Amino acid sequence: MLIKLLAKGRTGAVVMPSFTYRGLPHFARWAGQVPRFCDVDPVSHTLDPTALEACIDSDTTLVLLVCSFSGPGPLEVLCNIGERHNVPTIIDSVDGIACTYGGRMLGGHGRAEVYSLHATKVVNGFEGGYITTNDGALADLLRWQRNFSLSGWRPITIGANDYVLGLNAKLNEMHAAMALASLQGLGATILRNRARYDTYRDGIVRIEGLTLLPYLESETESRNYQMAVIEVCDDWLLSRDSLLAVLNAEGAAARPHYSPALHQSGCDLTATSAVHLPVTERLAKRLIRLPVGELATTEDVTAIAKLLKFISVNQGEIRARLGASITNGH
Ligand SMILES: Cc1ncc(COP(=O)(O)O)c(C=O)c1O
Repeated sequence: MLIKLLAKGRTGAVVMPSFTYRGLPHFARWAGQVPRFCDVDPVSHTLDPTALEACIDSDTTLVLLVCSFSGPGPLEVLCNIGERHNVPTIIDSVDGIACTYGGRMLGGHGRAEVYSLHATKVVNGFEGGYITTNDGALADLLRWQRNFSLSGWRPITIGANDYVLGLNAKLNEMHAAMALASLQGLGATILRNRARYDTYRDGIVRIEGLTLLPYLESETESRNYQMAVIEVCDDWLLSRDSLLAVLNAEGAAARPHYSPALHQSGCDLTATSAVHLPVTERLAKRLIRLPVGELATTEDVTAIAKLLKFISVNQGEIRARLGASITNGH
């Protein structure tokens, strides 16, 4: 909805990361736009400012920033780039819920920020989502649009001849009630996330070649500790995919983190020929998301950390037993 409104009837490119949630290029296509993938910073995993600058041209209708699990990245720098080019910037802040930037809670950056209430998220409304913005006229338009753009409800900020394609996108009462209940427990949820993350950290810290990625600027900023992502270094005898296969075979529901990258997924929905995004491509081969969430107990987390230690100590033998079919890449 937001992409459609901000594109103002133009068809063009939405600049977005390829190292992100696989639904995002579909959203751009739904809104009649074409995704244009941009490389990310190797540490923050958010759009790289230099790469973003190079991606924007006269065809660009929108910049879509995405908060990483570890923090929002250099938001001000990134938003300024769009502003300088007169291109609206919106932020997928789904993973930035309850996080701060410059000491202030996210929610008021760019033209608008978008959040999810899916049951897997830190604030759970079963399904649904919400948009935050400091732009009153845009908020009016969105409220109108989500309620069929009924003619009697036309906001005074929009001219009589302006037309916005409406739909039924209201958050229903059940989802809203669930989200409010979940919101009340937000602080406690984050404390439990933190406890799980710390347990992983204590178990993984002594495993050579595996790094539990940190929550950036966590000394000064609030973070939600919702994910535990590890990086497998080049020295490991087992590839990332072999390690994943062993974890899964042992019952640990670990998953690759944003892999394959969207521009290499075979369904990237762009109109352009293949792009090369070196940082994205490297990250997409190295990271694993460990089991988290309310169903992962402290015992589970401790057992997974021990399993990682066991795999690390015995990786030569495991590699030999797995055979060449699974030890790709190394
Ligand atoms: C970064 C990100 N953006 C957007 C979404 C989509 O949210 P929803 O499922 O509420 O449409 C997700 C869902 O996992 C996500 O992780």
